[in-house]
Amino acid sequence: MARILLLYWSGYGQTRRICERIQALAQAQGHAVDVAPIDGDSDPAGYDAVVIGASIRHGKHDPSVLDYIRTHQRLLESKPSGFFSVNLVARKPAKNRPETNPYVKAFVASSPWKPRLLGVFGGELDYQRYGAFDRAAIRFIMWLTKGPRDPNTKVEFTDWAEVERFAGRVAALGSAGNP
Ligand SMILES: Cc1cc2nc3c(=O)[nH]c(=O)nc-3n(C[C@H](O)[C@H](O)[C@H](O)COP(=O)(O)O)c2cc1C
Repeated sequence: MARILLLYWSGYGQTRRICERIQALAQAQGHAVDVAPIDGDSDPAGYDAVVIGASIRHGKHDPSVLDYIRTHQRLLESKPSGFFSVNLVARKPAKNRPETNPYVKAFVASSPWKPRLLGVFGGELDYQRYGAFDRAAIRFIMWLTKGPRDPNTKVEFTDWAEVERFAGRVAALGSAGNP
């Protein structure tokens, strides 16, 4: 049994829900799994493995993600760890792997911590939840990337089977230190 920490940055809850699914599956394999927001002061010290998940907003992960990584870099590097990104670009089959997703590639290039496990998942698109500015900005991104532009669109692009495969690798991080 390993202690696993899942930290998230989530604007509308999709990344948190993904963490909760990973938590449920890793717990079912006998691990003790905590889920917490990355800006909540969680200390990775007492854990055997740490995974950070963050969504993309306006082309970026929230700066608090890199701030946390810089603050805890040595501890993160001292244990099995992982990172995953949630974004709408990942709805495209050609961009739904860590090696092909531009946001994961940018993260790996900019992060001083190089996690062993990487993942990327499609996010949720729900225009009616966004304010006018964000709705317009995302409709523009969808125009650029040939996605849904109807302002009533509510669609979840998250591949939950892929999340479950990733959860298995998180559990393996905790138990064997080898995903
Ligand atoms: C204000 C806003 C800006 C976004 N910008 C991008 C973007 O630039 N690229 C992208 O692929 N997805 C973008 N998304 C999509 C989110 O990554 C997606 O909705 C994800 O599910 C959000 O997860 P969260 O609820 O955990 O924050 C944006 C979403 C919002 C609400």
